Amino acid sequence: MSKSPLIVDMHSHFFPETWPDLAEKFGTPDWPWMKHHGDGKATVMVGDKEFRPIYSGCWDVSKRLEEMDQYGVDIQVMCSTPVLFATTRPADQAAECAHIFNDAALEMCSRSGGRLLPLAQVPLQDIDTACEVLTQAMKDGHLGVQIGNHVGDKDLDDEGLVTFLQHCAAENAAVLVHPWDMMGGNRMKKYMLPWLVSMAAETQLSILSLILSGAFDRIDKSLRICFAHGGGSFAYLLGRVDNAWKERDIVRVDCPNLPSSYVDRFFVDSAVFDHGALDLLIDVMGEERVMFGTDYPFPLGEIKMGELIRTAPKLNDQTKEKLFGTNAENWLATELSAQSAAD
Ligand code: CO
Repeated sequence: MSKSPLIVDMHSHFFPETWPDLAEKFGTPDWPWMKHHGDGKATVMVGDKEFRPIYSGCWDVSKRLEEMDQYGVDIQVMCSTPVLFATTRPADQAAECAHIFNDAALEMCSRSGGRLLPLAQVPLQDIDTACEVLTQAMKDGHLGVQIGNHVGDKDLDDEGLVTFLQHCAAENAAVLVHPWDMMGGNRMKKYMLPWLVSMAAETQLSILSLILSGAFDRIDKSLRICFAHGGGSFAYLLGRVDNAWKERDIVRVDCPNLPSSYVDRFFVDSAVFDHGALDLLIDVMGEERVMFGTDYPFPLGEIKMGELIRTAPKLNDQTKEKLFGTNAENWLATELSAQSAAD
C-alpha cells in the first residue's frame, strides 16, 4: 500500500531474541538477560530481578513489520535500550556489549527490506572508546547513536560528553538522547512514577545542561541531536527558564543568549500523547523540529502508532508531512523512501 506522506517512526526499541550469557562471559553478576515464556512474550531480567515485560515486536522482524503495516508506518528507526549500555561496568565490557547489540541491530535491519534503520550504542564511560565504537558503527551501516541522557553524575555539558557530541557531528551521526537511570527513585517506588515524573525532568535537565553551560555555543552547528518524549518538561517550562535568565545573573553566567533562542539546535519527538501538548511543542520548537516517535514496542509508547499526529485537529497536511517524515530525513541526513513499504 503506497501512501503519502512518508511515515517514519524515529523512536523505537529492540531487544535481540537472545544474546551471549554476559554474567558468564564477564564473570560478574546482575547482567541483563532474556527470559522467554514461549508465547511471544518474554521478560527482560537483570540478574534475578524482573526489569520489563516485552513481546515479540522487540525481536521478531516480521511481527514488527506486520504492526508497522497495521498503522501505516513505512520506516522505523530502532535502537537498543539503555539497560543494555553497561555504562557502570568496565569500559572494555561495555564496548563488547556495544558490538553485540550493534551487530544484532544491523542483522535485524538487514532482514527488513530497508524498513528498519539502526542507531548504535557506545561505551560512554570512556570517551575515546565511545568515539572509536561510533566511528566503526557508522562504517558498518548505523545512521547514528542512542545515548543515555547522563553518565552517572555527568550531564551532557561534561567536557568528555561534549567531545563525544562533537565527534558525532564530525561523523555525520544522528544522536537520540534517551532518559534513563532516573533521579528521585527512592521517593518514587510505586505507580511507575520514575517514568512519569523523572524521565521528563531528566530530559529537561539534559537540554538545559547544553544550553545554560554554553555547550551549544561550543558544539558545531552541524550536530543533529534529538531528545525523546517531546523533550520532557522542557517546552512547557521554557518561559520560566527565559525569565530566570533575564532576572538572575547566576543563570546566564555561561549562556550568552536567551535560552529559547537555542531551540533551533535540536529536535524532539512527538511522544506527548495529547493534542494540546503537541500544539505547544510545535509552537515552542517550530514545525521543523518535532518528529513522529512512538517508543514502540513498549507499553508506555503510542500503541496506535501515528494516531496523535493523524488526528491532530489544528495541524495542516504540510505540517503533518514534516512531522511524519521530512524532519526525520533531516535529522538522519538521509533520503528515505517508502518504496519497500509498497511491496
Ligand atoms: Co524510548
